[in-house]
Amino acid sequence: MPSPLEFLASRGSTPSRLLTDPGPSPEQLRELLQIGLRVPDHGRLEPTRYVLIDRQSGAELGARLARRLLAKDPDPTAAAIDKERGRFVRAPLTITVVCSPCVGHKVPECEQQLSAGCTALMLLLAAEATGFGAQWLTGWPAYDREVMDWLGLTAEESICGFIYVGTPSAERPNRPRPDLDAKLSYYGA
Ligand SMILES: Cc1cc2nc3c(=O)[nH]c(=O)nc-3n(C[C@H](O)[C@H](O)[C@H](O)COP(=O)(O)O)c2cc1C
Repeated sequence: MPSPLEFLASRGSTPSRLLTDPGPSPEQLRELLQIGLRVPDHGRLEPTRYVLIDRQSGAELGARLARRLLAKDPDPTAAAIDKERGRFVRAPLTITVVCSPCVGHKVPECEQQLSAGCTALMLLLAAEATGFGAQWLTGWPAYDREVMDWLGLTAEESICGFIYVGTPSAERPNRPRPDLDAKLSYYGA
C-alpha cells in the first residue's frame, strides 16, 4: 500500500484504449463524483457540473459524431468515421466535466475554469485510488458547439474534459516527467 505521497508521486493516466469493464459501481461512481467536487473554488461559485456518458449513450453519441464529422469533412477516411463511432464506448464510463461559470462575477471566469480543471484532476486521482484507471481527453468534440448542445451545455458553459474511467487491462505506460530544476527559479536571485 503506497503512502499518500508515494501515490501522488507515481500517479499516471491509463490510455482510454486500455480501460475495460468493470467500471465503477453506482456507489463508487457517486463517491468519485463527490470527491471531484471537493476542490478549491474562489467565491464558492460551484462552477462545475457533470454529464455522464455510459457505453449505451456513448454508442448513440458516437453515431452522431460520425454524422457530424461527415458534415464537417465530406471525405473522411473509414478509420476516422470508426474512431468517432467508438470514441465514447472505449471505456465503461466517461465523465464530462463541464465548467458552468458565474458570468460577470468579480471572480474571473479563468479562475472558475481552473476550479473545473481541479475537478478533472481530482477525478483522475480518485479513480486511481479506487483501483481504476482514468484518462483526461478533449479532442474536437470538446470544442464543437453542436456536440455541446447535444450534451445540454448552455452558451456560457464549456467542456473542461472527458474523463474516461475503467479497469486497466494492462499496466499503464510511463512517460518521462519534467525536470524540476528546468522549471524552477527563485524570485530575487
Ligand atoms: C485539458 C487536457 C486535455 C487533454 N486532451 C487529450 C487528448 O485529447 N488526447 C490525448 O491523447 N491526450 C490528451 N491529454 C493528455 C492526457 O490526459 C494525459 O495527460 C496523457 O495521456 C499522459 O498521461 P499522464 O497523465 O500520465 O501524464 C489531455 C490533457 C489535458 C490536461
